[in-house]
Amino acid sequence: MTRSIQRRPLVAANWKMNLLPREGAALARELLPRIREETGFVDVVLCPPYPGLAAVADVLEDGAVGLGAQNSHWEESGAYTGEVSPRMLLTLACQWVILGHSERRQLFGETDEGVNQRTRAALAAGLNPILCIGETLDQRDAGQVESTVLGQLDRGLDGLTAEEVLAVAVAYEPVWAIGTGRTATPEEAESVHALIRDRLREGFGEAADAVRILYGGSVKPENAGELFGQTDIDGGLIGGASLRAEDFAAIVRAATREAEQP
Ligand code: 13P
Repeated sequence: MTRSIQRRPLVAANWKMNLLPREGAALARELLPRIREETGFVDVVLCPPYPGLAAVADVLEDGAVGLGAQNSHWEESGAYTGEVSPRMLLTLACQWVILGHSERRQLFGETDEGVNQRTRAALAAGLNPILCIGETLDQRDAGQVESTVLGQLDRGLDGLTAEEVLAVAVAYEPVWAIGTGRTATPEEAESVHALIRDRLREGFGEAADAVRILYGGSVKPENAGELFGQTDIDGGLIGGASLRAEDFAAIVRAATREAEQP
């Protein structure tokens, strides 16, 4: 199957808990001239930590590169110390939000049910969620890749309409590949992406063909092209390599090359 024209590649930078606001703004300024042409072919999104959103938004003001946050709550306001609502993010010019990252699940106890509530609230507010799913090494070794990943997908998207799912990007991030330097092979990743696509088709019909499924986990300039060349890999969610302008720009260029393939 050839890549659907509807699926413009998406490359998102997850800066995690790195960079002070002025450092984030400096990185965005360094990055912009390196990817200006690519933004005609690829959607690029930067996701700084909350305190850096305003400073990075100022740098991105022409809108060619999108802005995202790394989490959001399901309520609009209230007694939820430490949380941030989707509407608050909209006032900071965010269009995207990463939800259900494995670090949130593993280190901060987030559950599929909570991730689903966050996803629904983000959509209702008009944000585009990047829903992260992925198995641990133990689950992979126990032969539980499919049940884990599809279970997280089903529960994360529970209750969404086909129209809503079009606003979501799914990020497959095998936990054993995050920050470890160990990347899934293109074939390993594609086999899971194809399962995700099939499951989206079962749940949402042909809308599934327009949903971007990103790969995340030790994506680097050296492996990005081969990963993005897979049929169901529509871009990436990049951690460590997104903190270096040259590396992230090279990854965006790799996605552009794939987008230009007939
Ligand atoms: P690395 O690219 O550092 O492995 O991180 C991936 C990730 O967690 C992106 O959300």
